[in-house]
Order: sequence, then structure tokens, then C-alpha cells
Amino acid sequence: MESDRFPGIAGQPAGLSLEDIEVRFGAQQVLQRLSVRLSPGEIGCLLGPSGCGKTTALRVVAGFVRPDAGRVSIGARTVADHAHWIAPEHRQVGIVFQDHALFPHLNVAENVAFGLRHGPRPWSAKEREARVNEVLALVQLPGLDKRFPHELSGGQQQRVALARALAPRPGLLLLDEPFSNLDPDLREALAMELRDMLKAAGTTALLVTHDQYEAFALADCVGVMERGYVAQWDSAYRLYHQPDSRSVADFVGMGSFLPATLHLERDDPVIETEIGWLSLQDPEDLERAKRSTDAHGQLDILLRPDDVVHDDSSRQLAVVRRKAFRGAEFLYTLALPSGQEVLALVPSHHNHALGEPIGIRLDADHVVTFARPHA
Ligand SMILES: Nc1ncnc2c1ncn2[C@@H]1O[C@H](COP(=O)(O)OP(=O)(O)O)[C@@H](O)[C@H]1O
Ligand SMILES: [Mg+2]
Repeated sequence: MESDRFPGIAGQPAGLSLEDIEVRFGAQQVLQRLSVRLSPGEIGCLLGPSGCGKTTALRVVAGFVRPDAGRVSIGARTVADHAHWIAPEHRQVGIVFQDHALFPHLNVAENVAFGLRHGPRPWSAKEREARVNEVLALVQLPGLDKRFPHELSGGQQQRVALARALAPRPGLLLLDEPFSNLDPDLREALAMELRDMLKAAGTTALLVTHDQYEAFALADCVGVMERGYVAQWDSAYRLYHQPDSRSVADFVGMGSFLPATLHLERDDPVIETEIGWLSLQDPEDLERAKRSTDAHGQLDILLRPDDVVHDDSSRQLAVVRRKAFRGAEFLYTLALPSGQEVLALVPSHHNHALGEPIGIRLDADHVVTFARPHA
């Protein structure tokens, strides 16, 4: 058995590349020109609403769906394209599903060992036992090896599912909404812990989820998916602060679009809004603003809640329309004189009443602009 067919056998993380994947189910185009690239050891995430094709993308990587066009490569191997096809069991890919699907009649250790029965080479009983203990320690479930799935919490079951998928040292791990059955409180904490576990195991991983907090807590790189393709593949920071399109800006985080005017007549280019001026220091922001502007210099800017700062000394006033207590902060919805609404995150000791005018000013690191939509 030649070892280069099984790059995961030595526990080496594999890179992943999906190039221009197309999948049709009957008349429905489910994936169109979907492209993703992960370096070995990197954690990527596809983030998108239900039905956008996330699970189908994972099934293409695992080999359960053959793409109509495009190429899938895992490590140095092309596993699917018009001329190549490697069956799922030979792809060295581990999978963790949403519903963890543990075997109810097997205990924890037997569930984890199940992953070792199949695979490119046989494991001896001794090797198997050692590996089971090793991965149970990695997922922080030592001592629970004799329990049955019904004796575990949802979070513990999900750890067992993860241990089972990691046991054969896959070159690549796929996770389909792994926390969606868990309490929201537990989700983000577990996502951060899972990131540490994956980094400790050195595994390349591709996660799909509709939950941006999960995506941001786990992934090095996130692709925002819309109707079968990746609209933007970027770091969480850039998706939030420099979204390429209005739809990405809308899907990732909160914010509002404010009408603005670009002024290029002065030495330092500025953007004028009804609540102040923003200078365009960053050449990237300036180029983008020039591209976004119409013949009259009109465009929209994206304001995130942290770009609008409450300042009692500011003469620029906005009226509190709604407020949501977030513990350390209030999220205020503020009405500007024009009636346009913006969001502001304000430390929660500034407790203002609904209807009250409060001082605000702009404080944005990046000036993100978009063309005005056609009416
Ligand atoms: N095996 C299949 N046969 C036909 N249609 C499918 C199949 N799998 C998924 N679909 C359709 O493809 C679309 C995307 O599904 P899916 O990949 O499960 O989305 P997501 O995981 O983002 O919710 C949906 O409209 C779904 O109904
Ligand atoms: Mg799905």
C-alpha cells in the first residue's frame, strides 16, 4: 500500500482546495463556482444562511456528492474532477455531524475505537486502546470511557463525536454545524475550546455554520456563502470592518448605511455625512470611495455600532429610539435629524431614556463605502 495515497496516515495535516465547484440537483443549481483554499493546519469556515449549500459543500469534500464540474484536492491529491475520483473511504477525512450520531449501544471508548476499525491500515488492540485514551484526553473526557451516550450531556456527546473523528488522525476534519444542538451559552465557549483542540492536534479543518459567533470563535478564515458560492473569503476582522458587498455587510454583524458625499476638491479627501466628516487617510479606503461614488459624488457609508461614539460634549445630537441592555454596554438605536437610524454601542453607565437627545460623534478606523442602490 503506497503511503502517498494516504497523507493522513502519519497524522500530517493536508491542505484543501475546492476550485470552481458546480453541483446541480435536478434543475436546482446548489453550488456555483464555489472555491475554497486551506493551508495545512488551517481552520476554515463556510458561514451562510440555511439552504445556501453548506452541507452540500462538505459532502463534496467528503466524497458523498460528485461535483458536476470543478476540482477537489486534498493534500497533493486530486480526489475529484472530470478525470479523477477517489472514494470517500480513501480520502482520509474525518467528519463530525450536527447530530453527533453516536452508537447508543456502544460505550464512549467503543464509539471512539469504531473510527479505528476501518482505514488504510489495521490497528492492533494495544495501539487502539492507547489512541482512544489519547484522543479522550485531547477532547477533555478522561475517565468517561465506560459511559454510554445516554449518560452524557449534549456537550460531552459532541466531544465523543469529535474524538471518534480525530482518532484515525485524518489529514482533514469536516464539521457540519457541530454545536447547533447545544445551548447558545455553551456554544461559543465550546467553539473556542474546539479551536484549541484542533490546533493541538494540528488538524486542518473545514467547519460550516450559520452562526457567526461560532465561525469567528473557531476559524482562521471565514467564507461568507450566498446561494452556492463564496461571496468573500477573509479574516473575521476584515469581514466585519471591510466587507466587499452590502450583502456581506448585512449578514456579518450589525450596522447601518448612511448617505454621504465624497469631496475630492481639497488636499485631503473627506466624506461628509449628516453627523460629521471623515477623512480618508487609508489609500485603500479612498480608492473604494472613488469606485462607489456616483456622478454627483453621492455614496453610502457603512457604520458599525462601534463607529458611533456617545460623547456628552458633542453638539451633534441624536434621539434614543430603542435600547437593548447588553451587560457592559447598551446597544442604542439612534435617530438622526434626517430620520435615518444608526446603532451605537455605549458603556452601560450612560443610561439614557427613550426619546432623549444624546451627543454623538464618528470614530471609524475604516471608512467603508458602497454605491447607492438604484431606487
Ligand atoms: N440530495 C439532495 N437532493 C436534492 N436536493 C438537495 C439535496 N441535498 C441538498 N439539496 C438542496 O440543496 C440546497 C442546499 O442544501 P444544503 O447544502 O443542505 O444547505 P445548508 O447546509 O446550507 O442548509 C437546498 O435547497 C436543499 O434542498
Ligand atoms: Mg446544512
